[in-house]
Amino acid sequence: MTEVLRVDPATPDPVALARAAAIMRGGGLVAFPTETVYGLGAVVDHDAALAAVFAAKGRPVTDPLIVHAADRDGFADVVAGWDDRAEGLARRFWPGPLTLVVPRGPAAGDRVTAGGAGVGVRVPAHPTALALLRTVGRPVAAPSANRFGRVSPTAAQHVLEELDGRIDAVVDAGPTPLGVESTVLDLTGAVPRVLRPGGVTLEDLREALGPVEHAERRSVAPGVAAASPGQLLAHYAPSTPLVLAEGGVAARDAAVAAMSERTPGVEALELPEDAGAAAQRLYGALREADRRGARLLVAATLDPEGLGRAVNDRLFRAAHGRLLTDPGATSVDHLLAALGLGGAGTGRS
Ligand code: TXA
Ligand code: MG
Repeated sequence: MTEVLRVDPATPDPVALARAAAIMRGGGLVAFPTETVYGLGAVVDHDAALAAVFAAKGRPVTDPLIVHAADRDGFADVVAGWDDRAEGLARRFWPGPLTLVVPRGPAAGDRVTAGGAGVGVRVPAHPTALALLRTVGRPVAAPSANRFGRVSPTAAQHVLEELDGRIDAVVDAGPTPLGVESTVLDLTGAVPRVLRPGGVTLEDLREALGPVEHAERRSVAPGVAAASPGQLLAHYAPSTPLVLAEGGVAARDAAVAAMSERTPGVEALELPEDAGAAAQRLYGALREADRRGARLLVAATLDPEGLGRAVNDRLFRAAHGRLLTDPGATSVDHLLAALGLGGAGTGRS
């Protein structure tokens, strides 16, 4: 059984946090809230605990873990050194949803870095996470607290849905405020590079740093398009198949109408138009669609700016790259056939 430690997010009960910290120091696994999503924490100096994180999630050991601490001093042995860029970014954006990949120190072993030369570190901006990290008193490695490839948890209930009985405890402080994961910024090269868009925007980073590289996930062909397979991990994915429509809510609704003529159970994934509100709703909305037993979801992409980039990135991955750029009959038939949902020849003649 997984113990549930319920706390007030702003003023978490120190007794509950002491319990969670004791479990982690003993090599146990504790899920806890951050401002982005719930993480699954293990202390970095306990090798068996780190191995258990990968086992509980079903995560390949080739995927490195982010190390969390309550402040920059907490990374003393985890990080080999801070250049001016890393120091400036840490001062400006921490605590906050920015993970910096920097040269690793002796406390960041191969289990955490997946054998790479860089380690991802971040100070989360959530009072419960910060209080817990201070109580643990050691760096905590924490991937998102979901089964590998699934949607990240934005509530303790989501953690339990996937990991109940597989982890020791979850600290439940209610929903996470941001709703999508941190921005991962690689600082090990000459030019900083965004590996995953997230809570700190590209605009923010460029303002702070100057040039920043990023690889946006985009379609390559009209009609039904898919990105290059290398970029397309089946990641952040709901069980219900998802298709993206470019061109806002009108394009989405046109796609739903066109598909509904051919197959039942097609639903719009309703998200707020404001990117911040959409980020907060995204993963919960995907989980709800799964629970309702929707057969096919269609979502509109957001304007690719600010937090909209992070939302589009997650939508794109959840859709396995399926982007409908044209709701015409041929594209719709092709797409439905590819999904095994009728398509060519069914429905209207
Ligand atoms: O918001 C977040 O980042 C949440 C909360 C819990 O902090 N954590 C999270 O962790 O999303 P995870 O493991 O689900 O995603 C971390 C991403 C992965 O894509 C991983 O490959 C990348 O960050 N990453 C971590 N360490 C890295 C490193 N040393 N080099 C390159 N990429 C790294
Ligand atoms: Mg994850």
